[in-house]
Amino acid sequence: MCGIVGYLGNKNTKEILLSGLKELEYRGYDSAGIAVLQDGEFSNYKAVGKLVNLEEKTKNFITDKFAIGIGHTRWATHGKPTELNAHPHLGESSYVVHNGIIENYAELKQELQKDGIKFLSQTDTEVIVHQFEKNLLASGDEFEAFSKTISELEGAYATLIVTKSLPDTIFFAKHGSPMLVGVNDENEKFFASSDSPLIGLAKEVNYFEDGDYGYVTKGELVIFDKDGNKSKPNFSQLSTDKLSAQKDGYRFFMEKEIYEQSDVIADTLLGRLSDEEIMFDEIDKNLFNGINEIKLCACGTSYHSALSASYLFERYSKIRCSVEIASEFRYRSPIMSKDTLFVVISQSGETADTLETLKMAKKAGLRTLVICNVDNSSMVRLADACILTRAGIEKGVASTKAFATQVTVFWMLSLYVAKLRNSLSRDELKHQIHLLREIPVATIVSDDMHERIKRLSKRYLHGHGFFFIGRDIFFPLALEGALKLKEISYLHAEGYPSGEMKHGPIALADPELFTIALLPEHLLYEKSKSNVEELSARDSTICAISSKEFDKADDFIKINSSKDYMLEFFEMMIAVQLLSLEISIRLGNDVDMPRNLAKSVTVE
Ligand code: AGP
Repeated sequence: MCGIVGYLGNKNTKEILLSGLKELEYRGYDSAGIAVLQDGEFSNYKAVGKLVNLEEKTKNFITDKFAIGIGHTRWATHGKPTELNAHPHLGESSYVVHNGIIENYAELKQELQKDGIKFLSQTDTEVIVHQFEKNLLASGDEFEAFSKTISELEGAYATLIVTKSLPDTIFFAKHGSPMLVGVNDENEKFFASSDSPLIGLAKEVNYFEDGDYGYVTKGELVIFDKDGNKSKPNFSQLSTDKLSAQKDGYRFFMEKEIYEQSDVIADTLLGRLSDEEIMFDEIDKNLFNGINEIKLCACGTSYHSALSASYLFERYSKIRCSVEIASEFRYRSPIMSKDTLFVVISQSGETADTLETLKMAKKAGLRTLVICNVDNSSMVRLADACILTRAGIEKGVASTKAFATQVTVFWMLSLYVAKLRNSLSRDELKHQIHLLREIPVATIVSDDMHERIKRLSKRYLHGHGFFFIGRDIFFPLALEGALKLKEISYLHAEGYPSGEMKHGPIALADPELFTIALLPEHLLYEKSKSNVEELSARDSTICAISSKEFDKADDFIKINSSKDYMLEFFEMMIAVQLLSLEISIRLGNDVDMPRNLAKSVTVE
């Protein structure tokens, strides 16, 4: 997720911007930049990679008098991580920083280019500053131009604009991406994407609401709401602890990332859905020409999202799909044919085993695609095509939002391929797209569910093991739930196909054997229910997750009844993530940094 900072005041603007960006490093980024207007002149610096590179570039830049400045750390969504694509973006005499996705940037860019505007970057953001200057040229009034520009943007944004003709003003607007403004008794103004950069600088802060826009000057903070009415700031005190601020008050980054899933999935979907089709402007449809099989290859949680995807590709795209564990595949002398699209899935884009299989596929002449969360990573640079999951940085070693966004991308991709292969009717495609739009709602964490799981987790702190069981696409979700529990609680857990329990594992059934049973209402419910009843009849302790009450369960986690098994999938995903979180917390483990594990396994 990108990070934004802004400052207006007499202090060392450069230092305030750079230290603010440092406080936002936890959000993840691949480039950074600042722009400062001082003595009527703009200074702009950008650097790829870590902030130390930007600090090096600005080391001789002095800001020792009144100035306005904006800064940005970029997590690439449109366009590679390069200096040209780094923010702030320049117009003729204005700069802009932006966090979010401008859905209608292509149309705006086309119109601006018709007016002869030259774009330097590949980003969606750059249209904001050129649109602002186009409107300023027409109206001659900076605030009117800014307001008009904001009204023309569609999508998610938190944005700051500074312009040479108003050297004591910073314009702001917020819709869908977070931003706050801080003030103090010295008439300084501070902006940031989250509150940690403002701790120790601002006396009180106002968290902008969606639709808020306005400007600050030395003596003013002027806010207009989504209806264009002036609104009073709603000031609150800042927390004093920076680390808890980075966790936004959650106990662990993993907990925060579970709660973030609804918002990041909205980002994953943004700009990729129309009523009738899926759009991936980062891939060429020809990638699938002549392809008769999709082979998915990954490790760990990414393997589980790949396994989930295989059900969707065969069900919706009517294409053969096979799934490989990378560490097995690379030593298996596999048969690879050129009509296979080789897809690797990786949150980090650096996992050694997965990266090696990508090299094998390329060497064998297969077309390759990577589903990844980190632009410019090794796999992204190597694959023929890439679809970014846009989950933002994932700090918790135990993956959550990366998994959620991977499955979301795969659901979209299965429909994208279905359209190419004409394997779904137009109405079915529209229905599926309608369901996709409901994922952000389905992944909102309900307090009731979390409280229930917090309470019942006390009963699962021992025992001789857990089975997570599910059928069809809920089998990979069972695997994922078991992996989450193993990773952060250190208790043994296995994911198993519900129908397989009678072929051996049921011998383990007794009260000390905990079975977490996934019982979706809309997919093989009766079959799954009878499998669970077999275990219950042998006195196994059952925790059922379902929208339908299940009287044979010792514990029951209720999810909302929904229209489709895929929405049940996402709700049950939240439940198994929270269950592992709460058990781990009760056991006193370090949820974010579990023993023996690394966030990215770059060695084999
Ligand atoms: C998941 O919770 C684990 N951290 C681990 O299994 C991880 O998914 C695996 O190492 C693959 O990582 P990648 O997605 O970055 O390739």
